[in-house]
Amino acid sequence: MIKAVSDAVTYIRTKSKIQPSVGVILGSGLGSVVDAIKVEATIPFGEIPGAKASSVPGHQGKLIMGYAGESPVAIMQGRVHFYEGYDMQDVMFLSRVLGRLGIKKLIVTNAAGGVNTSFKPGDLMLISDHINLMGMNPLRGPNIDPFGVRFPDMSDAYSEALRAQAKEVAKEIGVLVQEGVYLAVSGPSFETPAEIRAFRNLGADAVGMSTIPEVIAMAHMNIPVLGISCITNMAAGILKQKLTHQEVMDTTARVQKEFTSLVVALAVRLAS
Ligand code: HPA
Repeated sequence: MIKAVSDAVTYIRTKSKIQPSVGVILGSGLGSVVDAIKVEATIPFGEIPGAKASSVPGHQGKLIMGYAGESPVAIMQGRVHFYEGYDMQDVMFLSRVLGRLGIKKLIVTNAAGGVNTSFKPGDLMLISDHINLMGMNPLRGPNIDPFGVRFPDMSDAYSEALRAQAKEVAKEIGVLVQEGVYLAVSGPSFETPAEIRAFRNLGADAVGMSTIPEVIAMAHMNIPVLGISCITNMAAGILKQKLTHQEVMDTTARVQKEFTSLVVALAVRLAS
């Protein structure tokens, strides 16, 4: 793993000399943030040694090296998911690579279903914590000591300090944000209404199928994370309607502008 990660870093450095201070992972349908970036290099995941390409519609699967304002950033436009059949090592691989590229902070985003009934589709939620029901921990297996300790602390996995900064930035640019707990399942089926009721009782505000592996990788590497969920739909059983990936894509398209301005403003602020 460590050799594969450093080979990937070496390859990326042949394409771009940018030293990113902030990493960004863009979830389903949220890739248009890249349109607001001064792009220096676009590297398809499939070209990066050791990385897997993403197969999901709405996930472009490219690493973008560029600038948000003046701030050097590395942006994953898309990600690979556990439900695609990859193992956890593959799912967290590029986060490790971002870590080794030298990012000091990671902004991780996703599309999620609203479990908290006071949310509505289109809301943006700062993630305060997570519940891992993916059935797997990405650090399972021999510990790779150069990355971090065997038993990483997860008490501040979603940095309270970064969240405080994010609330300030959101206020300054006039974007309303919710805050809550993200719960991830492996997918790819959406949840049942009974599962959603159970998850609400467990303390979840939003549900999705990603993010947690990357955040655990960052906690292991001691890199602070800011998480943002775009609530694309109300979770199963809340409304009398079927859940579809189309609704997810339609909502991300609708909030694209607001989401992009928040993420870009955050990348700039967190880099300074
Ligand atoms: N459940 C799980 N993942 C999701 C959802 C959902 O309702 N919406 C977007 N991603």
